[in-house]
This record gives sequence, structure tokens and C-alpha cells, in this order.
Amino acid sequence: MAKLFEQIDVGGLSLANRIVIAPMCQYSAEDGAMTDWHLIHLGQLALSGAAALTIEATAVSPEGRISYGDVGLYDDRTEAAMQRVIDGVRRWSDMPLIIQLAHAGRKASTAKPWHGGAQIAPTAPNGWQTVAPSALPFESHENAPIALDRAGLDDIRKAFVDAARRADRVGLDAIQIHAAHGYLLHEFLSPLSNRREDEYGGSLENRMRFPLEVFDAVRAAFSPDKAVTVRVSGTDWVEGGWTVEETAILAAELEARGCAAIHVSSGGLDPRQTIPVGPSYQVPLANKVKQAVSIPVIAVGLITDPHQAEAILQAGEADAIAIARGVLWNPHWPWHAAAALGAAVKAPPQYLRSEPRGAGRVLQEMKP
Ligand SMILES: Cc1cc2nc3c(=O)[nH]c(=O)nc-3n(C[C@H](O)[C@H](O)[C@H](O)COP(=O)(O)O)c2cc1C
Repeated sequence: MAKLFEQIDVGGLSLANRIVIAPMCQYSAEDGAMTDWHLIHLGQLALSGAAALTIEATAVSPEGRISYGDVGLYDDRTEAAMQRVIDGVRRWSDMPLIIQLAHAGRKASTAKPWHGGAQIAPTAPNGWQTVAPSALPFESHENAPIALDRAGLDDIRKAFVDAARRADRVGLDAIQIHAAHGYLLHEFLSPLSNRREDEYGGSLENRMRFPLEVFDAVRAAFSPDKAVTVRVSGTDWVEGGWTVEETAILAAELEARGCAAIHVSSGGLDPRQTIPVGPSYQVPLANKVKQAVSIPVIAVGLITDPHQAEAILQAGEADAIAIARGVLWNPHWPWHAAAALGAAVKAPPQYLRSEPRGAGRVLQEMKP
């Protein structure tokens, strides 16, 4: 049996196989509220045969959104909009749903990618003043963020807690805290974006302090029987930045505090990054983290071929793989992976007749 289709337990959440759909911002929310686009998009992916679906970076406060089109979970209105979408998806799919909770820090207040993605000035429509560990902009020409003070840190930690409670209430199965890609929590971790001179900056211990405080607070607020996981950047890909060795130390700290899995991405913090992009390019980072922890480690990044995914798991470099662009390109990627590796996936009864003659018994009836 292919390892890619073996069951795995993530903090009590049973995953039917080792394929997870990575979070993908859709920039299609209205004032933080999910729309019919999310019902279509998440609904489609919930029929893909993957083991779990991660909902896009969901902001814990309006200023924590990357763009004005981002999803939020910060008031009753955004919670009700999400509840509606989740109820719709759940009616037809039993796929576990994970939510990525996020704060975009200094990389907030941008245009949608298909409008260029540039920062929007705080005084312009759809723009706002950003916040960060230090008053350093991402790009030198950008409006600088305001450095968070004690009250600002407390507010953001509380926003994560409130969002975690709302995520619990709408029936989500797990939380992934976004500490990657140069957003707020990663900005605390990296010495390139964190120049604080208080107990939240300087040493590795100090730089990890706020992300760990947020983790502890979210873990305490979310149902104890449900998993809280973290997504990290394994390196900044910039000299003098956040390193994979530091990532491994952070991962071990998180494991000790009850983190159920670590999802290892990379980059996003500094425009000077030089990324060796290619198939499986982030897998060595996941492998390094895996050596430091015993919780599941998820690898991501240009994993596009079922045999490639299987080889990563067989080599013990990661416990599961995540896929983003590949599943937009081919929304039934897990079906085809199962066919290629002689395994089976769950599919809705409405689609069972699609299986070509001679394909074997790839599709098994999903019963939501
Ligand atoms: C359209 C799009 C939106 C994304 N949004 C998010 C996001 O909300 N949160 C996140 O952590 N990563 C996000 N990513 C990064 C992906 O989760 C993933 O790490 C990256 O695309 C590499 O995996 P892939 O090669 O399978 O696409 C996004 C990627 C794409 C293509």
C-alpha cells in the first residue's frame, strides 16, 4: 500500500491519507465576510479526495488582512458568513476542515494580486495603517508599520483567542496558526524584521516569545480535543535572516506546548530572498524539522507528482504533503494520485460513474 494513502493521526484528527490542501487566499471576501465564491471554491476542493482542506489565511482583525478582499473571523458578521459556507460544504462532504488564523503585520493593506498586489497607503480607499514588531517596511519605499507596544501585543493575542473560539463554534476541526511568509508572527521570529530592544526582540528566545504566547493562548482557547498546528517558514533565504536551525528549535518548543503538527514552508519575509525554486525545494527544510520533533511534519512546495509525493514519504523526509497550485490546476489530483499508486479515495456518490473502465476501484463512496 502506498504510504501517501495511509491513515495518519494529527492531534486526534484522523486523516484518511497524507494529502492536505494548503491554504490559499482567494481575495474574494466582502469586508472580511466569506461569499458564494468560498462556497464554490471550498466546496469543489472538499470533493477532491484529499485528507483535509485548509481554509485560506483568515485574519483575526481587520488590520490583519493582507488585502481588503481577505477573509476575517473577527465579529459576529464574519462568523455568520463563515458558518453559512461551512454548513454548505459539510452538507456534501465529510472532509476535515482546518482554518489558518493569521495576522499580516507589515504586509497588510495591499491590492489584490490581479490588481498588482502593491501596498495601499493608509489614506487611500481600502488601505490602512499596518503594525509590526518594528517600524521597518517590507519594501523601503512602502509606508512603514507602527511598532507594536504592550497594549498592541495584548490586543492581537486576544484577537487570536477570539478567532479561535469562533473557529470552534462554527465547527472547524483544527487550527493552523500562520507563522510563515513574512506575516506578523514570522516578523517577530526573524532578526531582519524584529529589531526590538524589549523582551520580544534580540535573542532567539525573545524573538520566539510572542509567537509562542499566541500559540499558548490559542491552544488554551480551542477545544482540547481538537488540534492546533503551526505553519512556519523554514528559512528567510537571506543572509542574516531566520534559519532552519532556529526553525527546528521553534518546532520543538511548539511540540512541548501541545502543537499537533508543523507545516514547513519558507520565505516571504524579505524582498532580497533568493529561493532555489524547483520540485520539492522546501522538503529538506521539512526533513530538518522532522529530526527535531516527533509530531507530524508536513512538506509543501512544488510537489506535483504522486510518485514524487510517495518518494518523500518513503524517504521519511515528511509525514504528509500539502498541495496548493496543483489542486487548483487539477481539482481531483488526489483521485489521480490514488489511481497512479493503486489506492482508493472517497468521492461523492454523484461522481462515482466517472471512473474509467480498467481504472480499478479508485473511488469509494463518501457519506457526509
Ligand atoms: C493562490 C494562492 C494563495 C495562497 N494563499 C496562502 C495563504 O492564504 N496562506 C499560506 O500560508 N500560503 C498561501 N499560499 C501558499 C501555498 O499554501 C503554498 O505554500 C505554495 O503555493 C507552495 O505550494 P504549491 O507548490 O503546491 O503551490 C498561497 C498560494 C497560492 C497559489
